[in-house]
Amino acid sequence: MIIRQAIILLIFISFSSQRKTIDLLLSYNLEDPTRYQLKTSYGFDDSRKQHDYSKTDSDEPNTENHFDDENSTDESSLNDEELDLLQPENPTEGISVLYAQPEQIHLSIGTNVSTFVVTWQTMSPTPVPTCKYGRNGMIKIATGDTTLFIDGGKEKLKRYIHKVQLENLIPQQKYVYHCGSSLGWSEEFWFKSLDPSESWAPTLAVYGDLGNINGRSLPYLQEETQRSRFDAILHVGDFAYDMRDAEGEVGDQFMRQIEPIAAYVPYMVSPGNHEEAYNFSHYRYRFNMPNSEETENLFYEFKLGPVQFISINTEAYYFLEYGIKIVVKQYMWLVEVLKEANKPENRARWPWIITYGHRPMYCSDDDGDDCTKRSSRVRSGLPVVNWFGLENLFYESGVDLEIWAHEHSYERLWPVYEHKVYNGSNSAPYVNPNAPVHVISGSAGCQENTDRFIKHPMAWSAFRNSDYGYARLKILNHTHLYMEQVSAEKEGDIIDSFWLIKDQHGPYSKK
Ligand SMILES: *[C@@H]1O[C@H](CO)[C@@H](O)[C@H](O)[C@H]1NC(C)=O
Ligand SMILES: *[C@@H]1O[C@H](CO)[C@@H](O)[C@H](O)[C@H]1NC(C)=O
Ligand SMILES: *[C@@H]1O[C@H](CO)[C@@H](O)[C@H](O)[C@H]1NC(C)=O
Ligand SMILES: *[C@@H]1O[C@H](CO)[C@@H](O)[C@H](O)[C@H]1NC(C)=O
Ligand SMILES: *[C@@H]1O[C@H](CO)[C@@H](O)[C@H](O)[C@H]1NC(C)=O
Repeated sequence: MIIRQAIILLIFISFSSQRKTIDLLLSYNLEDPTRYQLKTSYGFDDSRKQHDYSKTDSDEPNTENHFDDENSTDESSLNDEELDLLQPENPTEGISVLYAQPEQIHLSIGTNVSTFVVTWQTMSPTPVPTCKYGRNGMIKIATGDTTLFIDGGKEKLKRYIHKVQLENLIPQQKYVYHCGSSLGWSEEFWFKSLDPSESWAPTLAVYGDLGNINGRSLPYLQEETQRSRFDAILHVGDFAYDMRDAEGEVGDQFMRQIEPIAAYVPYMVSPGNHEEAYNFSHYRYRFNMPNSEETENLFYEFKLGPVQFISINTEAYYFLEYGIKIVVKQYMWLVEVLKEANKPENRARWPWIITYGHRPMYCSDDDGDDCTKRSSRVRSGLPVVNWFGLENLFYESGVDLEIWAHEHSYERLWPVYEHKVYNGSNSAPYVNPNAPVHVISGSAGCQENTDRFIKHPMAWSAFRNSDYGYARLKILNHTHLYMEQVSAEKEGDIIDSFWLIKDQHGPYSKK
């Protein structure tokens, strides 16, 4: 399915007296107004339509800006290349500095682990977004592009989201970088590049449900990340509570709070129910996940060490008002990705398949979520028709580990399929198990506190705990994976751990 893409080029120069798309945040150099252009791209069809720039602004009166029309040219007749040539040599000339300081810097993995994407925000438009980086100081330069994000709230606040890719990074090297534009630079951060080799053993922090308020795990994550204990982070849905609140200021605050983590290691995310507002637009705009052009950021996959990670959007099954199209699209995408992953040559290189998504298939919390019932939507599909359920697909595709959040607690399951336990053996349930293993880690900390459990869980429930905390996941090699849960209430104690050991990986039904 090809997503309709609308690229809107905004040129802040004088066109003609009819020109009305004026950004009131800018003031212009009347001597030479052709010195500035800003490119914004709109990638997401329907949700972004409402943010059509010309529509939003067309009625705003032209009171603050006075254009010099006499010598204007009609720039709308230029093509993209010609517009790029308009990039000024000294872009600051002609722009008043308003609120162009870069903030909320965060990293993500790009099309492959040798590429990092840096994303940040400014409240005013800026000249070309740029990162300066390198192993021995900030000696290289990479430039990127800017997307205008208009919040769906009452004030329709504008945010400028900048994205730059750092490509062909040399494995396992410490890089320093800063990003911004000629109107302002971030502080200097650093990261350690990832290793594209399949024999590399990455360590990740994994959690869901982290808010601005009561974010109990945050100090631990900040400390550990800056001590280089993690190669990447998986945040499995529910951010800030909620990013759209206070005209999006809660989202800004959250992105600032995670900067001490996310500016140092790739911060890989999935959408949760708290991201629902305006068709998940805060989530879509604020993060840049791999190949987001195809999947709108909502689901994606990447390979890291011997693992193929797959992030899924469970919310599509619940917010049906946004259309069933996205459920179908994701399901078809998953079928293809899992088929490809199971080609012998691919499974030999990336034997582990680990999925993560917000709402679990199974849980035993007492909050009435559908995972406590027999048929959750993620597990068995849409209500009544039971279409597009994921349990069968994941079972038949030999998914090894399924990570979830949403429940504000930690729960580890015995290998399970259709409510039945498939231990490897009684004495070693996680050695060559005959079904996927599920783990829920959704208690990173937020203002909704933690959840309690029902008294008598089903036989698949192996361990439960409601402390605030987060998980560490280490994939040692093709056969051994280790996971543990840290309690932020017990000063970082490990409250649970397990080894998943597999001599062979592949579809379970064939065994
Ligand atoms: C328009 O361009 C001409 C020729 O370059 C120049 O002499 C004139 O001053 C310009 N007019 C304004 C209003 O800038
Ligand atoms: C990784 O992606 C970049 C583009 O982002 C490309 O230049 C590079 O060749 C890719 N590397 C590998 C190993 O595929
Ligand atoms: C919400 O987003 C999805 C995915 O882009 C799209 O298919 C759907 O039409 C959108 N729904 C609305 C109501 O905007
Ligand atoms: C699975 O293994 C665990 C640990 O040995 C055991 O407690 C549990 O009863 C087993 N479940 C089944 C159904 O065999
Ligand atoms: C994988 O790692 C485990 C745990 O460190 C180790 O016992 C095992 O020998 C390793 N296997 C291989 C093939 O290196």
